[in-house]
Amino acid sequence: MSFSATILTLYPDMFPGPLGMSLSGDALARGVWSLEAKNIRDHGLGRHRTVDDTPAGGGPGMVIRCDVLASAIDANVPLDDPRPKLLMSPRGRPLTQSYVRELAAGPGVVIVCGRFEGVDERVIEARGLAEISIGDYVLSGGEMAAMIVLDSCVRLLPGVMGKEASGTEESFESNRLEYSHYTRPREWEGRPIPDVLLSGNHALIERWRREESERITRERRPDLLER
Ligand SMILES: C[S@@+](CC[C@H](N)C(=O)[O-])C[C@H]1O[C@@H](n2cnc3c(N)ncnc32)[C@H](O)[C@@H]1O
Repeated sequence: MSFSATILTLYPDMFPGPLGMSLSGDALARGVWSLEAKNIRDHGLGRHRTVDDTPAGGGPGMVIRCDVLASAIDANVPLDDPRPKLLMSPRGRPLTQSYVRELAAGPGVVIVCGRFEGVDERVIEARGLAEISIGDYVLSGGEMAAMIVLDSCVRLLPGVMGKEASGTEESFESNRLEYSHYTRPREWEGRPIPDVLLSGNHALIERWRREESERITRERRPDLLER
């Protein structure tokens, strides 16, 4: 069974967007994963297909209505759908590589993309949406955040990356940032490739990479070492 993604959005034309290119695009074309983007507005109210309303208690902006979003979810996601239902949200659980691995190992995801001030809290509770954040900053909508979730999952699916190992040595696997990479030319603008990488001694190369990885992590993200 392939990994399947259902996106609920006010902008379905944004998909597959960049996910239709490169690794994820090839995998999509080969059927390694599937993607459908559904328009929340199809479930909007009245002649104008209204999806939002003013916030209870006042304040700026608009909020996506719970009844409209629930109709969109119910029409597109069967009750016994085993896929986790995610809501992109800056308040959510931070997306990490271990969480990405967990999602990629499952049957797929349903992702709700917020807009405006966000969505009415009651639909989050009633439909069991798990709020996920891609970082401590605010985007104007959940679509690009959803693409980030999907891109990070899809590249881990079997047969998507050329070499299985390239997925397991990367940054954040085992709470370390990756060592530095080099390729030809051997010397460029007076900067040589570190000798050890040209030594052919695999044990030494592995040790150098492990130490580089530790050093870079200590300098840039000491919080990772404490995890
Ligand atoms: C303008 S934001 C709403 C921000 C919200 N009023 C708040 O302060 O938390 C609109 C939508 O963008 C998406 N979004 C914004 N920042 C995000 C982030 N860091 N991670 C995931 N989704 C985000 C969410 O779907 C959100 O509902």
